[in-house]
Amino acid sequence: MRNYKAKMVEPITLPSRERRDAVLEEAGYNAFNVAAEDVYIDLLTDSGTGTMSDAQWAALMRGDESYAGSRSFAHLEEAVSDVMGFPNVVPCHQGRGAENVLYGCLVEEGDVVLNNAHFDTTRAHVANLGGEPVDCPVEGARDPDIAGDFKGDFSLDRARAAVDEVGHENVPVVVLTITNNSTAGQPVSVANTREVAEFAREIGATFVIDACRFAENAEFVRRREAEFADASVADIAREQLSYADALVMSGKKEGLSNVGGFVAVAEEPGGEAAAQLFERAKQRGILYEGFPTYGGMAGRDIEAMAVGLREVVEPPYPEARIDQVATFGDLLSEAGLPVYRPVGGHAVYLDAGDLFPNVAPDEYPGQALVCELYREGGVRGVELGSFAFPGVDRPELVRLALPRRTYAREHLEHVADAGAALLDRRREVRGLEVVSEPPVPELRHFSAELRPVE
Ligand code: F0G
Repeated sequence: MRNYKAKMVEPITLPSRERRDAVLEEAGYNAFNVAAEDVYIDLLTDSGTGTMSDAQWAALMRGDESYAGSRSFAHLEEAVSDVMGFPNVVPCHQGRGAENVLYGCLVEEGDVVLNNAHFDTTRAHVANLGGEPVDCPVEGARDPDIAGDFKGDFSLDRARAAVDEVGHENVPVVVLTITNNSTAGQPVSVANTREVAEFAREIGATFVIDACRFAENAEFVRRREAEFADASVADIAREQLSYADALVMSGKKEGLSNVGGFVAVAEEPGGEAAAQLFERAKQRGILYEGFPTYGGMAGRDIEAMAVGLREVVEPPYPEARIDQVATFGDLLSEAGLPVYRPVGGHAVYLDAGDLFPNVAPDEYPGQALVCELYREGGVRGVELGSFAFPGVDRPELVRLALPRRTYAREHLEHVADAGAALLDRRREVRGLEVVSEPPVPELRHFSAELRPVE
């Protein structure tokens, strides 16, 4: 059930087939280089692209643009405290700003960071600090066909093996990303969260939750973890987050805002250590983000995020959100496309390796699928396989992310139709080769240019 309706619309148009062919070539076969007005259905990301509520638009007008002591920041602190249970907030312009602030306080050259799976910006920040990002997915997480309620969980076996290898003194941070974006948006159970917290405590590491999609995760917990069958998403979210020492948050996801983010630090049980971490994060925030009562955001953006954080846990929103993504997965499956199962929280992931067995991994089957979906339907998705994660052993996934409260079923049917059309000529699809790429390998998918292999 939806608890909202549209009252403002934005025109979109489907460019002609000839135009789409030309756009692909001009863009170097990289969807990040395509102008948004050449895209009909934009599923590149669920980040900052959703629809704000009337309450959020009204809140924009109340933004306090003061440099110091902004009332809007006080509203954000209250929302983070009420919804997430964290009293200490360092505002940042978006999630990666928060990553820079927090990980910059914790990670040094030669350290190892453990994560159920690093998202690309997280991986890049750890590497940029001289650390080594190590993923700890559970068995089967990277298999698109294996059933499982919590395929996003963190593998303690893998983590223990890594600690045995490098020594616990070299593992300052353990991160749990909920939901697990790099693993098909799969949820993480509260039971696993408790175990990871315990493990982090054992090895003396700071336990960080990347909370970008905390409410979607809580909705899965409500549906799948027996202990929480009768609990509210709001209560589950607070419970799950309560185990962390600190959070990194991108408001562009579940702050339901177009920009924004923050670091949050727990008060207890960290005690003195937590107070020190909060203080250091604030100082680093001043350097990179802005004074601790705006952190790179306008006061109006802070207001919108503060309201969005409350809306995201309000029933029936989380239920409608997960249901819409599941419906999208069913539409794509019915069209004959190989869908990663179970369907995750913010996106449907397609297995391009399965779709194009004739395209070798070093010719980027996922990127080929991104291009073909655009060619067929003006649909923009993103590759999260061997093009985005070079050298990482993972399936050739393509993510079709749904912006929040934005598209209707008809839009999703159009995407499924585009998928069905490309199935008819799947054997003719050629792989791609990189023509030029930027120097940072973790970020190459944002700007590299490609061409079809001969
Ligand atoms: N952590 C996770 C798990 C993310 O998914 C993202 C962003 C970030 C951190 C960084 O946040 O974009 O506000 O700087 N994910 C977007 C995506 C970009 O498309 O999945 P940001």
